[in-house]
Parts: sequence; structure tokens; C-alpha cells
Amino acid sequence: MLDKIKKLAEGHKHQIAEWRHEFHANPELSFQEFETTKRIKKYLEQMGFTNVRVGTGGIETGVVADLDTQKDGPCIALRADIDALPMQEVGTPPYRSRNDGVMHACGHDSHIAMLLGAAYVLKTMESELPGKVRFIFQPSEESPHKSGARAMIQDGVLDGVDAISGLHIWSSLPAGVVGYKAGPFMASADEWECTVWGKGGHGAVPHLAFDPIVAASAMVGALQTIVSREIDPLEAVVITCAHIESGTTFNIIPDKAFMQGTVRTFNQEVRATIPERMERIIKGISEAMRCKSEFTYKHVLPPTVNDKEFTEKAADVARALLGADKVKEVVPTMGAEDMSLYLERVPGTFMFLGTYNESKGTVNPQHHPEYDVDDDVLPFGSALLASIAWSFLNKQM
Ligand code: NI
Repeated sequence: MLDKIKKLAEGHKHQIAEWRHEFHANPELSFQEFETTKRIKKYLEQMGFTNVRVGTGGIETGVVADLDTQKDGPCIALRADIDALPMQEVGTPPYRSRNDGVMHACGHDSHIAMLLGAAYVLKTMESELPGKVRFIFQPSEESPHKSGARAMIQDGVLDGVDAISGLHIWSSLPAGVVGYKAGPFMASADEWECTVWGKGGHGAVPHLAFDPIVAASAMVGALQTIVSREIDPLEAVVITCAHIESGTTFNIIPDKAFMQGTVRTFNQEVRATIPERMERIIKGISEAMRCKSEFTYKHVLPPTVNDKEFTEKAADVARALLGADKVKEVVPTMGAEDMSLYLERVPGTFMFLGTYNESKGTVNPQHHPEYDVDDDVLPFGSALLASIAWSFLNKQM
């Protein structure tokens, strides 16, 4: 059956590439994916899907379509994200972005095209499927504070779903290679902010001021001791101060400093301890340096944790489909994904599909202004998603 799936996907490769080019040329930002949504709906309906739902929970973008075979079997969801990034495309492919300042530089255009390809394959095989497949075209992955996954889940997109799978096209893996990892795969992503208030004064007479810049600087350094001195060194944690603002000119000690950053980890228990640790250090230093401070910590996205059994079996499916040399266990990444929110609720797996190919010039990393994707890997992605769905529904995984 996997051979049939592969043939169907490969026979559709030009169409899949064309879809990607069309989405690439017409990128839209998070929760503004209006044209993208219309196009996805149109292509699904052309394939014969009925009851294609648009929008979710007050949001007008995103598409959900069910392949409902009317059989009592299980239901698997396949998910693609559909939004683009606020950046200017510098590359000049024929399908270059027509929306200035907006670009599909994370490959979500490929995700849409691959999932449409999988929908085509599975629709063609509808009579042979013993269960249901839900296709989720999710808006707003790039704005984790306004996660499209969260909105869709609240609106019930996972109701009746037994498992979920998705793919992210990945620039650093060789073209056509599938990267998988059971267990924690991508990190949690939280955000913190801290304001330090001191007492302003003349830069020449610091003893008459309480300098918030010196206090904030001490905090930036001391916060790193959480990772180096407080957490088990075998746990991966990142605490980054990414934004710092204070002062106006060279000879005035300001009365305030502002800092902002991110925290990443794979372990929910470790993650839960971080706010207390940061607050203790920030408070202690403010007090020691005669300043006041306010610290806020926002839990934004949990880690993306792939179900162990599902992932090992999905890797076996990938090996059977593409060959053992095309499937690689990879190390986790500190990047984050709102795929995590689905995988927190239902078992499944999120995998990478490589697109690095020197002969085609697809060598730039994700979010690069000349980012591009090797179209030849797209049918593999479609076939893999369809094969995972088929195998799951046939209780072969
Ligand atoms: Ni992405």
C-alpha cells in the first residue's frame, strides 16, 4: 500500500510544486491568512471534499476538512501551519513574494502544499480507509502569543481525534531526509520581562543615585547562574536576555531599566521552577543595589513532546516508504512550535523533512531572506503524511 501512496504522490508532484509556488508568491501574516484560506478551501473542494470549514473561534482564517469514510475506525489529524513572516524576500525565484515585507521564509508554503498532496492521495484511496482523517490547516504559528493551535483546540479541532502528525520542512537536513526524535523534540518557549527602578542623577556623581543600569547588568550575569549552578547540567535550559533599554545620553544616570528575554527547556518540571529562581535573583540584586524591580513571567508554549511508540512506528513507516538511508534520528532543537499544544493532548509525532540541496541552491537557513525549498522533496512529505495516516488507521502503528 505504501508503494501505491508513493506513486500517487509522485504522480502529483507538479501540482504539489505549483501549489507551493502559488502560496509562496502570496504570503500572509499570522491571522491574516485570508487569501491563503480561500485557496486551500478551493483546492480541497476541487478534490471532492465537502463540508470544508473555514475559520475558528471568532478567527476568520484557517481550514479544517474531514475525510469521513463513515466507518467506525479511529481518526487521525494531519496538521500544517499556513502563515508567513514579516520580512522582505531578497531571493528572485519566479514565484517571489508579491506581498512586500511578507515572506514564506519558514517553509509553511511547503507545509500547505504537502498537506494538500496528502489530502489528494487519501481522498483518492477513500474507499480503502478504515477510519477518518482530519486535515488541519492552522493559522498563526509564527505569533506564539496568539497561537492558532490554541485557538483551534479551544474550538474543538481535536474532538474525536485519536492521534496527530505533522511535518516541518527543515533547511539543515539533506533534501529528502526525514528527521525524527521520540520524546522531547522542540523546546518550550516562555517570555520574561523585568523593570528595575533606581534613582536618577548626574553621571559624575553616582553616589547620589541608585543606578538601575548597574543593577540590571548584574542581573543579566547572575541569571546565567541558574543554568550553570542551579539546574542539573544534564538538563538543557536557555535563559536569554534579548532586549535591554535604559538611559538617554552619556552623562545621566537614568531612573529605570527594562529587560526582556526568553526561557527554553524540554522538561516541564524544570520549566515550572524557573520563574521562582529568576524572581529570587532579581529581587535579591535589586535590594542589594537599593533599587526596586518588577518581574513578570509568561508561560507561552510547552515543549513539543513526541509520543515514543507512535514516533518509532512512524519512523518505521518512513523507512519502508523512503528507504532506511533517508530516515535519521536527530537531536532536539531549542526552537519552539505550537504543534506542542496538540501533542500535549493527543499522541502523535512531529518530524522534519530536509530540503538542503546545493545543486538547487536551497542552502539558506529558515527565516533567511533568500530561503527556498527543493520542490522535489514535497511529494515525499505528502506520501509520508498519507502513509502515517494509512498505517495508523489500519492499526499498523
Ligand atoms: Ni515554521
